[in-house]
This record gives sequence, structure tokens and C-alpha cells, in this order.
Amino acid sequence: MPSLATVYEPYFPIGAAVEPQTLLSQGNLLAAQVNSLVAENAMKWERIHPRPGDDPSSYDFTGADAIVEFARAHGMRLRGHTFVWHNQVPPWVFQDSSGQASKTDVLQRMRGHMSALLAHFRGEVYCWDVVNEAVTDTGEWRADSPWFRAAGADDDGDGVPDYIVQAFEHARATAPGVKLFYNDYNIEGGAKLDRVVSLVKALRGRGVVDGVGIQGHWSLYGPGPELVRSAIERLAALDVEVQVTELDLSVYRPGDSSSLAELSPGLAAEQASRYASYFKVFRDEAEARRLTAVTFWGIADDHTWLDSFPVTGRKDWPLLFDTHHRPKSAFRAVAQW
Ligand code: G3I
Repeated sequence: MPSLATVYEPYFPIGAAVEPQTLLSQGNLLAAQVNSLVAENAMKWERIHPRPGDDPSSYDFTGADAIVEFARAHGMRLRGHTFVWHNQVPPWVFQDSSGQASKTDVLQRMRGHMSALLAHFRGEVYCWDVVNEAVTDTGEWRADSPWFRAAGADDDGDGVPDYIVQAFEHARATAPGVKLFYNDYNIEGGAKLDRVVSLVKALRGRGVVDGVGIQGHWSLYGPGPELVRSAIERLAALDVEVQVTELDLSVYRPGDSSSLAELSPGLAAEQASRYASYFKVFRDEAEARRLTAVTFWGIADDHTWLDSFPVTGRKDWPLLFDTHHRPKSAFRAVAQW
């Protein structure tokens, strides 16, 4: 069986999201197929910094360190995911004894957290998703984020919520050699992409962003590969790297809550053909130096977040390998063109 990492060597690294447990259950497949990893959950705030305070006892690096160890043992690159996100952050980050913590305190906690992680993973993690998903699907700032509530004001008048600018500036000042990314989904077009473009321009003006992650949680029903191409080109024109950071292709139509008992040969073929079209775009864009990495959100269908979203307990088959780690037709479509 060909190795994706080898086949794509001339184009870009091939990555996969992992959990400490999947290093055990999927380790052989990962070692054979990818040359880059990202922690699916293990570097998120609630896992790595569960307790209040900023001394070593507040942190728990166990899961993340297992991933670092695996990446090092196999000579893989490692992406960092993620510092500032509205999900999976413990409530104490935004509270004090009188209720809502002040903007000053929340930003100080944010900086302390980032400094600790940047120091801990120095030399291991080459890029970080500094801010994740700060924009709504209709192109507004995500006002229901606890980060926005605490520090979403734009006191410096640059058109960007202060917490976003502060996060990027702090990461840049603390770890000048690390690549700093803004990461989001549904940014292939529309008002959301417009907003991300203006955000990246503002951050670029300050010299504090290096890349944009297009997550790539797509399906058999869209987005169209040419729309993806245009988004990559529009973002790359801002003089930043573009990566696809969380790729998977659900077999369900968005909004459909029905369940399938199995992946039929017909759907498997459709999925293969979609994957082939996306990877054609990726190779073209890599050749034009506009796309620098592709990371799958998992490696095989026995472990995918889509089994619990948007319908809990519904099986989905979004990846290139099946539940027994055998290559699907989608794998062949991506590996042989
Ligand atoms: O660890 C707890 C466990 O102790 C508890 O018993 C169990 C009960 O529900 O939950 C476990 O945590 C779950 C965690 O995944 C680990 O599996 C959370 O409930 C669950 O919400 C969490 O889901 C993760 C999700 O982010 C959270 O928003 C998914 O695994 C992860 O794939 C997903 O990843 C995100 C990216 O970070 C950002 N982009 C979108 C992407 C998909 O949603």
C-alpha cells in the first residue's frame, strides 16, 4: 500500500488529528501514512490546564506529551491546537469571586496559559492555532464567546476585538520562531470569508499572523472544489500560508438527521470522487505555493468526531481508511491520480 506521506512529499506534509488513545489503536496506520500530527483534544485548555492558577500543578501535560513523544519517535511535525477558543475552556478562566472576571484578568490568564504552553512545547510544535473560530457563519464576531464577552471590546479601534490582537501579539513576542495561525470552518466563501480576510489583513499589518487554517469539515454535498480553490487563492493573496487543517468528508447532507446502516458502494465511490477533486485542487495550489499542509481530522473511520455530531451515536465514514484500517476507495483516489 502506498504511503500518503511519501506520495505527497513533493507537495505538502500529510497530517492527522490524534488522541493519546488513538496512538495505541491506530499507531501503525499513522506511522505508515502521515508525517504530521495535531492533538484532537489533548492540547485544549480544559485538558492541559484544568485547574486555576499558573503554577505547574495547574497544568496536566500527560496526554499532550504522549503525542509529542510519538511525533518525535516517528520524525513527524506537530501542529498546536488551540489557545483561544470558545469551547473546552474551564469556567474559572472567565470568573472571579464577584462573578465575571475583568478584561485585565482574563487577558492575563490567557497570556499566562499561552506562555506556559509555548515554553513547554518549544522546539516540538512548529505552528499554533492561536485563535480558533472567532467569526460566526454570517460574518459577525462571535459575540457569545466567553472571550468576546470578557475582552471583545475594540479599545484600540483597529476593527478587531482586543482579545484576538492580544493573543497574536503575545504569541509573537513570546515565541518569534513559531508560526501563528487563525483557524476556522465554513470559510470557503460568503460573509464569513470576507470577515476572516479583513481580520487577517489587520493582523498582517501588525506582523503577527503567518497562516490561515481552512478546517475542511466538508461532505459529499459541498463545498464545491472550485469554491475551495478560490478561498485558498484569496487567503494566500494576503501573503500568509494556507493550510487545510481538519479535513473530513461526512457522507450525510448538512441538516439531514437520518442514519445509514453502512457505507454503500455508491456512496463510497462518490466520496472517492469528491476527495479526488479536492486533492487535485490541493496539488495545484501547492505547486503554486499557496497551500502548505493538509491535515485530516482523524485517520480511520473507527475514530471520528462525526459519530457524535450532529447526531449523537450516528455512524459516519468520513476518512480514507475504514473501521478495520483497510484503505477505502477514497484512499486510492487520493494516493493514485
Ligand atoms: O473527556 C470527556 C469525558 O470525560 C466525558 O465523560 C465525555 C462525556 O461526553 O466527554 C468527554 O469529552 C468529550 C471530548 O470530545 C473527548 O472525546 C467532549 O464531551 C466532546 O465535546 C469533545 O468533542 C470534541 C469537540 O471538538 C469539542 O468541541 C471532538 O472530540 C473534537 O474532534 C472537536 O474538534 C473540533 C476542533 O477542535 C475545532 N474545529 C471543529 C472540530 C470538530 O468539532
